[in-house]
Amino acid sequence: MAKAQNIFVCQSCGADYRRWQGKCDSCGEWNTIEESQATGSGAPKGLTGKRGHKVDLTDLSLKADEAPRLITGIGELDRAFGGGLVKGSAILIGGDPGIGKSTILLQALAKLAQDGRTCVYLSGEEATTQVQMRADRLGLSAAPVKLGSATNLRDILATLEATGTPDIVVIDSIQTLYADNLEAAPGTVSQVRLCSHELISYAKRSGAILLLVGHVTKDGQIAGPRVLEHMVDTVLYFEGDRSHQFRILRAVKNRFGGTDEIGVFEMTSGGLQEVANPSAQFLADRPQDEPGSAVFAGMEGTRPVLVEIQALVARSSAANPRRTVVGWDQGRLSMVLAVLDARTGVGLAGCDVYLNIAGGLKIAEPAADLAVAVALLSSLSGKPVAQDAVVFGEMALSGDIRPVTQMDARLKEAAKLGFARAYGPNPRKTSTKAVRYTQIERVQDLLAEFLVDQD
Ligand code: TYD
Ligand code: MG
Repeated sequence: MAKAQNIFVCQSCGADYRRWQGKCDSCGEWNTIEESQATGSGAPKGLTGKRGHKVDLTDLSLKADEAPRLITGIGELDRAFGGGLVKGSAILIGGDPGIGKSTILLQALAKLAQDGRTCVYLSGEEATTQVQMRADRLGLSAAPVKLGSATNLRDILATLEATGTPDIVVIDSIQTLYADNLEAAPGTVSQVRLCSHELISYAKRSGAILLLVGHVTKDGQIAGPRVLEHMVDTVLYFEGDRSHQFRILRAVKNRFGGTDEIGVFEMTSGGLQEVANPSAQFLADRPQDEPGSAVFAGMEGTRPVLVEIQALVARSSAANPRRTVVGWDQGRLSMVLAVLDARTGVGLAGCDVYLNIAGGLKIAEPAADLAVAVALLSSLSGKPVAQDAVVFGEMALSGDIRPVTQMDARLKEAAKLGFARAYGPNPRKTSTKAVRYTQIERVQDLLAEFLVDQD
């Protein structure tokens, strides 16, 4: 029989090729294609021979004895999970090294174990003593978590089978595991794919909740095959920069809850603490009467969150002025700058522009356009935005300000935090009376509001 030919697999996205090539056509990465054992040989064959087993079919109603979700008791974590952990589900948690993945999972397991759940924490990265030292520092040593250090998939599955059915299993991290029947090194696409598949099948079969820690690449994607994101039920990312105390856990995919729901934490010497009122925390260090600062009333999932947007505009003599953005989309900033220039003629083209979202939050909402524009104009003119104002609204290329979703929720949050006025699009049927609302119909209206002295 002809020897099965090896294939070449991109370690970044999982695309496969007959021959090696320098650049992956699928994801555009360079030097990520490696030779790998072919898993099947030749063309797929039809299902011949043995008959399959009959699968039990049921109806859509939930059976009464099935508790649908496990609550960790860490409110911000449960919120990011979409209201608790669903039995038999597989969850992937990604984030930069040192952001707090291991810490939050240890804290969650300790809480669940104290509530009488069977919790298994398997670390492939740290020795058991290292995890014990962390638990000691966090004051969690007494929690009856079952701790082990393992990287061989076979050993892990045997351990889990022998533990009865654990309620929850943490694998830290999926990139350290290997199946001994594959020659590939841990962390390669074939290993990550096989190990995840086996563990997820175990979770579905046993009803255990599986939490996989995943490393991220330098551009922030979960390393290994993207198929991993399709295999699991929920994908969470830990965001925030390490030099800042805030950590944001964001659901980017959730089969059992809303996406874009965030949990906000603060890294302290005692581990990750919940931040129950993120808006107040994000605005805590806001400067008084400084130009270039605007408060954006945003939505993260179902929760309104107020954040400060900081802009600095400085004249530049360079042919290509600098555009630096932290926490927002670079392309979106270019668009706002172009619209401001084209529609108001304020002349930002020859300026260096720096934009920063305070607190380490990453904003994806187009509703931030108007707040960004206001921060830019305020920096350009040197006139501060009124301290008690929030701003929101999406900007069209024509300069028109478009309506945004959930205006009431945004305005209520602003009123709750003591803001007295708001600038935004056509309010339609907003019922909040607590703030004075100024409609900005098009971007030109901003000039009168923000480039002249305020009363
Ligand atoms: P860790 O959970 O190990 O990160 P990850 O698993 O995502 O790589 O987080 C480690 C960081 O958190 C490290 O920089 C130290 C800091 N830390 C604290 O500030 N306080 C604490 O109580 C703990 C346990 C960690
Ligand atoms: Mg870790």
